[in-house]
Amino acid sequence: MERVPEPELMDTPEQTAAYAEADFSEANDLFVSHMFAHHLPDFASVIDLGCGPGDIVVRLACRYPHWQLTALDGGENMLARAEHAIDNARLRDRVSIVKRLLPDVSDVVAHDAVISNSLLHHLPEPDVLWAAIRSLLIPGGVVQVMDLLRPDNEAEVDALVAKHAANHPSVLQQDFRNSLFAAYTLEEVKQQLDDAGLDLHLEQVSDRHWMARGRP
Ligand SMILES: C[S@@+](CC[C@H](N)C(=O)[O-])C[C@H]1O[C@@H](n2cnc3c(N)ncnc32)[C@H](O)[C@@H]1O
Repeated sequence: MERVPEPELMDTPEQTAAYAEADFSEANDLFVSHMFAHHLPDFASVIDLGCGPGDIVVRLACRYPHWQLTALDGGENMLARAEHAIDNARLRDRVSIVKRLLPDVSDVVAHDAVISNSLLHHLPEPDVLWAAIRSLLIPGGVVQVMDLLRPDNEAEVDALVAKHAANHPSVLQQDFRNSLFAAYTLEEVKQQLDDAGLDLHLEQVSDRHWMARGRP
């Protein structure tokens, strides 16, 4: 099925409210559970690119009580949601917020780990993410990126929306549908990694997600 790009930012108040209030715990738990295997140090610094409403950084900060986390996003309303979640969890001393629209990562320091979930399919040029990862990673650092997989046909898109978003508000169902059309296939991600010179382990990790991870 042909890829159909979607807008880069999803930052209207309606979109950010619907996204921040939705329950993405299954996908976010999947992401967080895979961080364990990297054996990062107790006092690791981790940056989340396209952090959205901040659920993943909050989960990581709670699970790893000495990590310093940075939540980066280009959307003003989305970052306001992240700020709220971080304040609510009383994590302001360990989670900082950075407003940047990739490819601009000026003045952002390198981290022990660079992570990202569901950002790649929003970017008009996918190499923007892989280049940002290279410039924000310390030598020997860890990368973990997860995103949706583009299904083979529209019937599979319909089935995934029915399975995973039936109880979500219609704005979110439409976002999920658009995201499945905008997502990349495993072969396309493999090509992007090769082009970027990033040697990462790439695999399908759910009925709708791929993950690329490792120390490139
Ligand atoms: C689908 S959301 C994913 C949010 C979060 N990572 C999650 O897992 O729920 C994509 C996020 O990427 C952000 N974004 C899109 N393009 C961006 C760019 N060029 N630079 C920084 N953030 C961007 C959007 O504002 C949005 O918050």
